[in-house]
Amino acid sequence: MLKNLLSPTRIGTLELRNRIAVAPMGVEIAEADGKVREPVIAYYEERARGGAGLIITENTSACYPRGANSAHELGVSSDDFLPGLKALTERVHAHGAPIAIQLAHHGKVGRLDTQQNRPLLMPSTPRKGLRIDGPLDLSLEEMGLMAAAAGKGRPTVHEATVEDLQALVQDFAAAAERAQRAGFDAVEIHGAHGYIFSEFLSPAWNFREDEYGGALENRARLLCEVIAGCKAATGGDFPVWCRIDAVEFGEEDGIRPADAQLTAELAVEAGADAIHVSAYAHPLGAGFTLAPIVHAESGFAELAAGIKARVSVPVIAVGRISPEAADTLIERGAADLVAFGRPTLADPAMPIKLAEGRQASIRPCVYCYTCVAQAFFDRSVRCAVNPVTANEAELSSRLREKTSTPKRVLIAGGGPAGLEAARVAATRGHRVTLYEKASQLGGTLRFAALVYEPNERLLDWLQHEVRELGVEIVLGRTLGTADVAEQAPDVVMVATGARREKPPIEGIDLPHVLDGDSLRALMTGETSTGPAPDLGIFDRVIIGAGRLLGILRSPGRLRTLSHRYMPIGKRVVIVGGDLVGAELAEFLAERGRSVTLVEEGELFAAQMAHPRRWRVLHDLREAGVELINRACVDRITRHGVELTLSPEGEKPESREISAESVIVTLGLEPDLDLSTRLKSDAVRVVSIGDCTGVGYIEGAIHEGFKAALALDDPES
Ligand SMILES: Cc1cc2nc3c(=O)[nH]c(=O)nc-3n(C[C@H](O)[C@H](O)[C@H](O)COP(=O)(O)O)c2cc1C
Repeated sequence: MLKNLLSPTRIGTLELRNRIAVAPMGVEIAEADGKVREPVIAYYEERARGGAGLIITENTSACYPRGANSAHELGVSSDDFLPGLKALTERVHAHGAPIAIQLAHHGKVGRLDTQQNRPLLMPSTPRKGLRIDGPLDLSLEEMGLMAAAAGKGRPTVHEATVEDLQALVQDFAAAAERAQRAGFDAVEIHGAHGYIFSEFLSPAWNFREDEYGGALENRARLLCEVIAGCKAATGGDFPVWCRIDAVEFGEEDGIRPADAQLTAELAVEAGADAIHVSAYAHPLGAGFTLAPIVHAESGFAELAAGIKARVSVPVIAVGRISPEAADTLIERGAADLVAFGRPTLADPAMPIKLAEGRQASIRPCVYCYTCVAQAFFDRSVRCAVNPVTANEAELSSRLREKTSTPKRVLIAGGGPAGLEAARVAATRGHRVTLYEKASQLGGTLRFAALVYEPNERLLDWLQHEVRELGVEIVLGRTLGTADVAEQAPDVVMVATGARREKPPIEGIDLPHVLDGDSLRALMTGETSTGPAPDLGIFDRVIIGAGRLLGILRSPGRLRTLSHRYMPIGKRVVIVGGDLVGAELAEFLAERGRSVTLVEEGELFAAQMAHPRRWRVLHDLREAGVELINRACVDRITRHGVELTLSPEGEKPESREISAESVIVTLGLEPDLDLSTRLKSDAVRVVSIGDCTGVGYIEGAIHEGFKAALALDDPES
């Protein structure tokens, strides 16, 4: 399996044990001086231990602090950075992984330049500013954080002179030579993502009339000079390559695939030993999810294939590529290596697990964009499904070691918080029994898996892990005081989820109104989680048959089936535009329903990381879903929903929206009922997940993880 992806290869003189590269990711774990210290080393060491064939570092500033995006970006602009960088390469090499340094200058995105009152270095004065078409879809808090990250300075531009460009080439060459001395195995020049070299390459940003502007040969000159400079400074055999944009989406006169193919050829002529193919789009709004942090699976694969057809050196493909798709790409000669970004934040051991045929053990990325959202706020990376990411120095060894004080742990609730707590506790060597009142594990994650496919992989993984680790699972039963008395656990964890309080809306009890519980019961046939809704005879027969055949137990099959049949009317109003409401709206719109999403507040899907929100809201609008914010539901009638709208600065107005089905996602409340009932002097009870306040998947996983690690704390 995956023999192409797992086969060894080489880039120039560099031998690689497999064709899996850890993509460059600005994780911003460093302190505000750009120096490598233990947390940074531990982050990369974890990825090296995970078996990658090649690690490419985050963008590292060749001219730090000049041209850096953040003070937390790594620097390699003087020998002061050497000790940390040396320690990094040594620790990575100890696990058999070569490491390339990605050298960058951020040009127009050099946030640190603005913060420190330096002008942004650019090919030309831009003819337009960064704009966002349509609504911003950001919260006030997010806008505040972005403004704070940008700093107090006002961005100004300095059009690079030829002397500036010569100095830049020198800086990169010196940085490459320094990286070589620090023990790096290769250099990747960041020629993509709207940073300085990409700006020179793009006719949308480069209006120069000298030898660095105009024809592509001129626009590529700077990149080629830098490649040649780095090659010369490192002695010729040392591998140097570049990452480029195969396309610049959303810019009429931006980079086109044919330009990128020619750039790749010119780069190879200048000495590049490989070409890494990414892409770029306007970074504010849904464009950000077109590129570089692509939403579409294998979104740039054909672009990589186009470049591969034109060059003789290895091509590295990237962009939401699954290992299976990566294997096929390599097999059909469309790429030589594949870089994995987000998947290696979710599971740095992905390569080793693939090599060992343990696919089911790979913690999947759910493509929620939590990781990359942090960069907008100048914060360290964070992974929704892997709490260890960016905390390796403190946490990864704890997960590898068994506890010296094994405990007996009972967990009530098999949703994401309970499952993660069970997984981590069992990994540490605690004895765990998990009780779930429904007939299947998953809790709210099961429903989330139905509407958003990557969540199903997370659910499968959690179930697989707890079973592999020998967690005892009791289904169809609520943990009671008698169980606690009988089993005498050291700790009880309650992870039973939130309670649903029907909001006091007139008409909420009408038969065509569904809340989260009844919707779940309707879609999954699971009645232990909520009241079965009123259904016609046809619906009952279909659901009964589905349950009998086991179809309703699989979110994937249910997702497929629901394209053909769903006992939900053609016109649907969803009351509650939170994360759940927005995902549900997308699910229903994809199944031909005409959907209106009604939100009381200003912002839809406020709980989503903003890049994912940008994508989802963009797709909803494209699909014709009507999004109504600042709307209060006055009553639900047999024919629809009556609202009062309060548009900003205008008089409130009434509106009626007709609907055959109304879904109310509101009313989730913390529920400490079971915790209170189980609490006694004899046992410690810890509440985690949504029963303490709704935190969605990220909150549940992080709380479950933390609670399980805390089992070793003295008070547990
Ligand atoms: C948190 C984060 C930080 C990133 N930082 C960089 C970077 O420093 N340099 C770079 O070239 N690409 C960066 N990228 C883009 C990735 O290298 C990669 O191209 C992108 O995530 C698509 O690959 P994936 O779908 O496997 O995540 C970053 C991506 C993420 C998620």
